[in-house]
Amino acid sequence: MIKNICCIGAGYVGGPTMAVIAQKCPNIKVTVVDLNEDRIDAWNSSNLENLPIYEPGLDRVVEEARGRNLFFSTEVDKAIDEAEMIFISVNTPTKTYGVGKGMAADLKYIELCARQIARVAKSDKIVVEKSTLPVRTAQAIKDILDHTGNGVNFQILSNPEFLAEGTAIDDLFAPDRVLIGGDITESGQKAINQLVDIYANWVSKDRILTTNVWSSELSKLTANAFLAQRVSSINAMSELCEKTGADVNEVAKAIGMDSRIGSKFLKASVGFGGSCFQKDILNLVYIAKSYGLNEVADYWEQVIIMNDHQKRRFAKNMISTLYNTVSGKKIAFLGWAFKKDTNDTRESAAIYVADDLISEQAMVSVFDPKVDETQILFDLNYLETRSDIENKKYIKIEKDPYSTVENSHAIAILTEWDEFKTYDWKRIYDSMLKPAFVFDGRNLLDKKELEEIGFVYQAIGS
Ligand code: NAD
Ligand code: UGA
Repeated sequence: MIKNICCIGAGYVGGPTMAVIAQKCPNIKVTVVDLNEDRIDAWNSSNLENLPIYEPGLDRVVEEARGRNLFFSTEVDKAIDEAEMIFISVNTPTKTYGVGKGMAADLKYIELCARQIARVAKSDKIVVEKSTLPVRTAQAIKDILDHTGNGVNFQILSNPEFLAEGTAIDDLFAPDRVLIGGDITESGQKAINQLVDIYANWVSKDRILTTNVWSSELSKLTANAFLAQRVSSINAMSELCEKTGADVNEVAKAIGMDSRIGSKFLKASVGFGGSCFQKDILNLVYIAKSYGLNEVADYWEQVIIMNDHQKRRFAKNMISTLYNTVSGKKIAFLGWAFKKDTNDTRESAAIYVADDLISEQAMVSVFDPKVDETQILFDLNYLETRSDIENKKYIKIEKDPYSTVENSHAIAILTEWDEFKTYDWKRIYDSMLKPAFVFDGRNLLDKKELEEIGFVYQAIGS
């Protein structure tokens, strides 16, 4: 029985995942470590509103377990030394340099963790890949760990995480499945069983799937590719709907009722965002290419090409509808996060739409209930389209939705926050320049209601 777990990486995955393990397994000590001191301080904050991640229900889980058997710390060596099982949950971003730049996953943080574990470990450890990794990464980790020369035995497991942001706690409490891959050897199976026993504290055994390591690693990339593909598929149809008088919501409903297709993940939008879909598909494309599987690579790359197109055409349509110029016009953004119920903005469509509009000299005002000014400016600067000072001239971050939209020519809905539906849209209309446009990138609002007020309303795919 495992009594002591360490998790390296206190991010969107490491934090919530370990908080739930700690809450569900009071007899296991769980220490989450990170190099980022500010992040750890935020996890330890006595005011639960200051946790580094906004996720519905996370505060209650942390409140229950923190200080009891859940600890956040920067003492990485100590936590590794004490743990019998070490989860690696560090970031695996797309490489920004060298071979595979813009496609391959950057595994430097993973390798650093493996080397640190190799250096520190004095007793046998089970090392669990929680990060999303290219298939066969376990071999590289094993190579590093097997050369410590200090007689310590390591087992490497793959246990990819399938939670979605905004619903992380619900997803962790009741996962569709938990996937664990490990060696087929006797010691490999023993390690698998030890991890199964942890999850079995709250997940029924028939939902805990065990496979070989490579299947587990590749299943994670495959799941994200399939999910993103559905969004790109419905978004492709949304453009055709706009040309033909079909309504993408009706099409989605009609096809979703076919039980072979299923109704979930068919919501047309301004394009998918988030830290993983694009990164993981690019990685998949890179892996396929590295095996010479060019048709496989091209097939999946289309999912990204379609998504880029969807983001770009949203901005283009705004510009052409606003009489082919947005120069000097105030455009109000409702939402900046890549989806509702999260403060995460990585790869959010809003960033790209704002960038395109600013290139046309629009004055963009943004309101998002959970994203702050520093983050929004960081996201825009990260694209390196123009200088920080230039960006600041064109973007204004507001704290109140009504002042955000006041005197604007148009509103763009970029995130599907529920609260946007409850706003006083008559008041908003009255405060805007006329004609008052709404470009609903999330098909969130009621077209009929808005048109009755007087808005020119445009949704995706109708
Ligand atoms: P993140 O950037 O939020 O967190 C990663 C953390 O790891 C950072 O706080 C960073 O400081 C820390 N870190 C990096 N190197 C370190 C080291 N050597 N020692 C200690 N700490 C170190 O990333 P995330 O969103 O939590 O994603 C982590 C992994 O999980 C990625 O591989 C991602 O693809 C995968 N994943 C993410 C999600 C999601 O919803 N965000 C879901 C499933 C899987
Ligand atoms: C996604 C997967 O759903 C998780 O299973 C996976 O663990 C995670 O990636 C990961 O590996 O990081 P996440 O990105 O947090 O989770 O959120 P999703 O709900 O998948 O949404 C991703 C993007 O697609 C969002 O921008 C969302 O608005 C968009 N989307 C989603 C649509 O435009 N339409 C849909 O029907 C569904």
